[in-house]
Amino acid sequence: MRRKDGSPKIRALRSKPVYSNGLRTYQRQNKLPDDSNVNIPTHSVVSLFSGCGGLDLGFQGGFSVFGKVYPRLPFDIVAAYDNFPDAVETYKLNLGDEISCLDLSEKPASDIPAADVLMGGFPCQDFSSSGPKVGLEGERGQLYKALTHYMERHRPKVVIGENVPHLARLDRGRHIEHILAEFESVGYSFQVWELYCPDYGLPQSRRRLFLVGVRDDLPGFPIKPIPTHTNKYFTIDKAIADLELITDETVTNQSQYFVASRATAGGGQGDHTNQRGDVAYCIRANARGRIQFHYGIDRRLTVRECARLQSFPDNYIFPYTTQRNLTLIGNAVPPIIGYQVAISINKYLSDLTRLQVDADSRYPKLKIAKQLGLSF
Ligand SMILES: C[S@@+](CC[C@H](N)C(=O)[O-])C[C@H]1O[C@@H](n2cnc3c(N)ncnc32)[C@H](O)[C@@H]1O
Repeated sequence: MRRKDGSPKIRALRSKPVYSNGLRTYQRQNKLPDDSNVNIPTHSVVSLFSGCGGLDLGFQGGFSVFGKVYPRLPFDIVAAYDNFPDAVETYKLNLGDEISCLDLSEKPASDIPAADVLMGGFPCQDFSSSGPKVGLEGERGQLYKALTHYMERHRPKVVIGENVPHLARLDRGRHIEHILAEFESVGYSFQVWELYCPDYGLPQSRRRLFLVGVRDDLPGFPIKPIPTHTNKYFTIDKAIADLELITDETVTNQSQYFVASRATAGGGQGDHTNQRGDVAYCIRANARGRIQFHYGIDRRLTVRECARLQSFPDNYIFPYTTQRNLTLIGNAVPPIIGYQVAISINKYLSDLTRLQVDADSRYPKLKIAKQLGLSF
């Protein structure tokens, strides 16, 4: 593809690049951006439908993107699950070996470890505005039950379900009401947070729903993250301008993109050229749906540019071919959005611990009795 400025053709990488290391190797070899939180008590997490690890990276922290450091957070992911081998391998390359490749509809909750926090972006294709919209009746519409079974069995303190906003509108809200009623029937209270990602510094127009639940015996509730960027969005050119002249793998995945020319628009789908000074269009898992072009170069966005617009750090490596990588990236929760949610959950859990400590100290007699093995 010839660039508008007449510079030579760029050859896109089509085959699978060989990458032996990802973020986790980088973290082992380099001091983390900020390790100051590493030794504070951790909250254990089980992650279902983990994908390539966008939400999980947000909860772990310890990365930098857009020139900003996101320090480590006190969450320890004890087990993660997905049935898509590409996602599992990418997770292992970048985050850790705690992920298993299996079908969660067949995995009993009793075989999954207990944790303080359960999170799961249950599959959304059946709910997505670009998907078949069969909702709860679809096979994938039933997978949210993996969260219900886990709550019944292990009683995590906090639960986070993640999905597309269309879920709330489907069948005039009947579907989400059904899911929340089922979640609450096993002893939890839920709130729904709709986050518009540019409000939190993501250079991309993306909305996501977080279904946040707290076990009924616990006081209080986490606070929805407060927007940090309202009316001063971080724009696409600020996010990816430094990649404009890079056409090779000196920045991983930057030479990967579809060379094909513009799509013929149809059925509401088609071409979108991003605009300098604005946020990017939503990065989708299916690159054949809406096709995104660079704001200043006559080509589609590269895999690395899409990863950046989803706020993955440059040392988060996607080891497959263009389409396979874009599927993983488009399905992910942007790590900086996961980070905002994680900060809120951490604050809640830490306050909870303090409340428990305070309650204990109000009853020294009971405490002493407990230590002595006495009962009143
Ligand atoms: C929306 S993505 C989750 C993205 C993830 N939260 C992230 O931030 O990267 C949903 C994931 O569910 C997985 N999935 C779908 N059906 C599954 C099943 N039956 N068992 C396990 N995982 C499944 C898909 O492979 C996909 O990675």
